[in-house]
Amino acid sequence: MNICCIGAGYVGGPTMATIAAQCPDIRVTVVDMDAARIEAWNSDHLPIYEPGLHEVVMAARGRNLFFSTDIDRAIREASLIFVSVNTPTKTYGIGAGSASDLTNVELCARRIAAVANGNKIVVEKSTLPVRTAESLKRVLQANANGYKFEILSNPEFLAEGTAVADLETPDRVLIGGDNTPSGQFAIQQLVNVYSRWVPRERILTTNLWSSELSKLVSNALLAQRISSVNALSALCEATGADVDEVTFAAGRDSRIGSKFLKASVGFGGSCFKKDILNLVYLCRHYGLEEVASYWEQVITINTWQKTRFVGRMIDTMFNTIAGKRIAILGFAFKKDTNDTRQSPAIDVCHALLNEKAQLAIYDPRVNARTILNELAQVTGLSVSELETRIACERDPYHACDGAHALAVLTEWDEFKTLDFEIIYRSMTKPAFVFDGRNVLPHAQLQLIGFEVQAIGKPLPLLRAAESIEGVPA
Ligand code: UDX
Ligand code: UDX
Repeated sequence: MNICCIGAGYVGGPTMATIAAQCPDIRVTVVDMDAARIEAWNSDHLPIYEPGLHEVVMAARGRNLFFSTDIDRAIREASLIFVSVNTPTKTYGIGAGSASDLTNVELCARRIAAVANGNKIVVEKSTLPVRTAESLKRVLQANANGYKFEILSNPEFLAEGTAVADLETPDRVLIGGDNTPSGQFAIQQLVNVYSRWVPRERILTTNLWSSELSKLVSNALLAQRISSVNALSALCEATGADVDEVTFAAGRDSRIGSKFLKASVGFGGSCFKKDILNLVYLCRHYGLEEVASYWEQVITINTWQKTRFVGRMIDTMFNTIAGKRIAILGFAFKKDTNDTRQSPAIDVCHALLNEKAQLAIYDPRVNARTILNELAQVTGLSVSELETRIACERDPYHACDGAHALAVLTEWDEFKTLDFEIIYRSMTKPAFVFDGRNVLPHAQLQLIGFEVQAIGKPLPLLRAAESIEGVPA
C-alpha cells in the first residue's frame, strides 16, 4: 500500500512518521508546497521540535518514509491520501473572524481530482467544519474523470509536546465514513492501517458528520475546562483560596478527573480558538444563538485572563512599566514545542510593549526570528523597530539581568530549577516575579526577597511562607 499526505506540518509530519515507523511495508510520502519545509524534513534539523520525533523519523526516513515537493506524483502513486493542510480562521468575507478558510483544502481536492489515475480514498486530517466532507465529495466527483473517490474523516487528537506518545498510544482513533458498501470498505482500509499498533477497541468508526463534529467538541470541552478554571482563579485571588488546592480537591472526584485543570495566563495553540470559533459559527448558522454565545464565553474568558495578567503586572509595578526591562521566560504556547501559534506570550508581550516596556525574551526552543516576526505581526512595527525594544536572550540569566520583573509565560521544566539567588542579585529592586503558569517555587522565591504574584494564589503569598517553621515574618 502507498500512502500520501499533503501538508508536512505539526500534524502531517509526526502522524505520517508514526505510520511509517509502525508499518514498514507501507510506503508513506509526505508532500508540501513549501520547499524549505520539505528540505528541513530531509535534513538533520527537522522543522518542528517534538520529544522523540527525531528518532521516529530517522528510523523510517529513506526506508518507507519520504518527504517531497512532487505533490502530483505522490497523489498518483497513493491509494490513500491524507489532507493535512492548515485551515486558518477566515480573515475576509462572510464568516471573517470565525469560519474556517477552506481554500487550501478545496485546492487539494481539485488537485487530487486533476491528477488521479485511479480510485482514491481521501482522508480529512485537517480539522474542518462539519459537513466539509460533503463539499469535498462534490468537488472530487465533479472532476473525477471516471474514477471513484471515497472521503473519510480521521481527526487528529495529538497534543503538541507529546505528539509521538499520543500517536503511539492514542486514547482513541476516530474514523468517519459513509454508510454505503464502498464507504465501509474505505473505513476498513484505514482501520487496517491503525490496527497494526492500536488495539481494535480503541478505533472508533462513525458516520462522517459525527467524526467531524467530535473533533470540534473535544477541543471545545478541553478549552472550556481551562477557561472555567481560569475564571475561578480570579475568584481565588479575591477570596484568598489557592486555585491549585481547589482544582486538586475538585479533580479527585472521578467524575471530574484531575487532568486539564491547570490555571494559566491563558490557553494558546493553533486549535482551541479556531475550533471554538468554528463551533460558534456553526451554531449561528443553524440559528442556535444561545448555544453560540455560551461557547463564545470560553474565548472571552481566555482573552480576559491575558488582559488581567498584564493589568496585575502594571498595578504591582507602581502603575508604570515605561522604560522598565521585563524578562519574559517562555514564548511557545506550551512546553516541549517550538510552536508559537496563538501563544498567550504574544498578547502579553504586545500589551507590555504598548506600555513602553523593554522586553528581554528567552525561550529554549523558539528562535529570535520567530519571536520578532510574531510580534511584528501584532504590533505592526518592523523587526528593526522591535529590535530597539526587545532583546532575545540566549539564556534565562541574561534575560533577567537588570530586569525589574520576570514573567513566566510557558511552563518549561527548566524554569523550575533556575538558580534564583543569582537571578535575584542581578535584578533591579524591588524584584518582581509574575508566574503565569504556577510552576515556580513561590515560597522559596519570597524567602530570597522576590515579590511574587501567581495565578489564583492568595495575596500576599508570604502567608504561606510565614507558616514554614523558622521563617521570619
Ligand atoms: C493541523 C491541521 O491540519 C489543522 O486543520 C489543524 O487545525 C491544526 O493542525 P498543522 O499541521 O498544525 O495543521 O499546520 P501547519 O504546520 O501549518 O502545516 C500545514 C502544511 O500544509 C504547511 O507546511 C503548508 O505549507 C502545507 N500546505 C498548505 C500545502 O502543502 N498545500 C496547501 O495548499 C496549503
Ligand atoms: C489540543 C488538544 O489537546 C489536542 O487533542 C488536539 O488534537 C489539538 O489541540 P494542543 O493545542 O497541541 O492540543 O495542546 P494542549 O495540551 O491541549 O494545550 C493547549 C493550551 O492549553 C496550551 O497553551 C496549554 O498551555 C494550555 N493549558 C492546557 C492550560 O492552560 N491548562 C491546562 O490544564 C492544559
